[in-house]
Amino acid sequence: MHTLRARTLSFDHETGTPVHHEKGAVVVDTDGKIAWAGSAEDLPDNFSSLPGYDYGKKLLMPGFVDPHLHFPQYRMLAVYGKDLLDWLNRYTFVEEQRYGDSRVSEIAARLFLDELIRNGTTACMAFSTVHPEALEALFSEAVRRKMAVISGLTLMDRNAPEALRNDLATIHETSIDLIEKYHGKERLGYAISPRFAITASEALLEVCQSLATRFPGLPIQTHLSENLAEIALTEKLFPWARDYLAVYERYDLVRSNSLFAHGIHLSESESRRLASSDAAIVHCPTSNNFLGSGLFPWLKRSTSDHPIRIGLGSDIGGGTSYSMLATMRDAYVVSQLVGKRIDPSALFRTATRENAELIGRLDRIGSLEAGKFADMILLDPQATPLMAERSFLSESLEDLLFALIILGDDRAVAETFIAGQPVKTALQ
Ligand code: GUN
Ligand code: ZN
Repeated sequence: MHTLRARTLSFDHETGTPVHHEKGAVVVDTDGKIAWAGSAEDLPDNFSSLPGYDYGKKLLMPGFVDPHLHFPQYRMLAVYGKDLLDWLNRYTFVEEQRYGDSRVSEIAARLFLDELIRNGTTACMAFSTVHPEALEALFSEAVRRKMAVISGLTLMDRNAPEALRNDLATIHETSIDLIEKYHGKERLGYAISPRFAITASEALLEVCQSLATRFPGLPIQTHLSENLAEIALTEKLFPWARDYLAVYERYDLVRSNSLFAHGIHLSESESRRLASSDAAIVHCPTSNNFLGSGLFPWLKRSTSDHPIRIGLGSDIGGGTSYSMLATMRDAYVVSQLVGKRIDPSALFRTATRENAELIGRLDRIGSLEAGKFADMILLDPQATPLMAERSFLSESLEDLLFALIILGDDRAVAETFIAGQPVKTALQ
């Protein structure tokens, strides 16, 4: 057991209210779980003589959780696509075909998880590819690192190159085998992962429905209403559907454990139906800006009379940064552009507690509380010469958080802890 002392910030498990201690302490037990967290002056006597470290004014927080990104796009950032469908066809579907080779997938899994750790992301829900080899490589590497990673075989059987289409005859059985092998193993989780409506036949959506019925506890991840041409093509492919969401509803895929990436151009009716299903939207602002997809009206969707649960994801490689600080920065900028400004504390709460809840793991991660995994990060508000100068202007916690969002990136992450172990400095 050991004790970490620092300035601490977390958002309460039950209420989401900020819990901040200028001089805080976290006790980590030998299983990598939090034994105690609070103000250092309240540290119980039995813990006070434990060995440990004092990180002074650096900020110790729960690790970031990224609820939407693509493992096989780990290096495919900054490719010059016109818009979503052009970018998918010209680059993404080409790159993802490499993952049928397990050597490629194994190397990619290492680099992908390294990059998450470098940026302070300690848990994620990620898309993989249609290849079982890719999913197995990602899961094996996550187990080796004791990381909480949720993923699943990407399901697609049309409007994509032949090599990226599942075999409808076997996909149901293959999926069941993978679910039974991996879901709940160590810290892994399995997500039913139809890529999006355009790449799914009705028969494939029926397979998804059948899996979701047989395994109701599994999360479902997909994309929704990201781009206008995508919406028009979806309506053409599913002429019976009244709108985009109705395609997923028809197959009973809109549930309280469903995560829909983007949801930018939703109609009033779709917003209401999403809210009443308790499904969530994952807002991916760096990706939306990069692909010119549109401006997501976060506060309009989360505070209306039918509020939708909202998370924040990087959407690597449509997204332009692994850093959740950079992701928060773009979310802030988009919120300014739509005229409803989001505050720094809400952004940090979303990147930790809310995202953990969205991926179904709030019982184990997402806040600094006894019994949860000690998945944590240490942020340095003075990480660069400019940030050090800027920090002298900070008189409040909100302002310190805001400067971290606007000026921070992976350099601001001084350390990343997975199950209590420092893993970022071990990379370098
Ligand atoms: N919609 C379907 N697939 C993708 C993808 O890989 N990235 C993004 N941004 N949108 C998608
Ligand atoms: Zn995506």
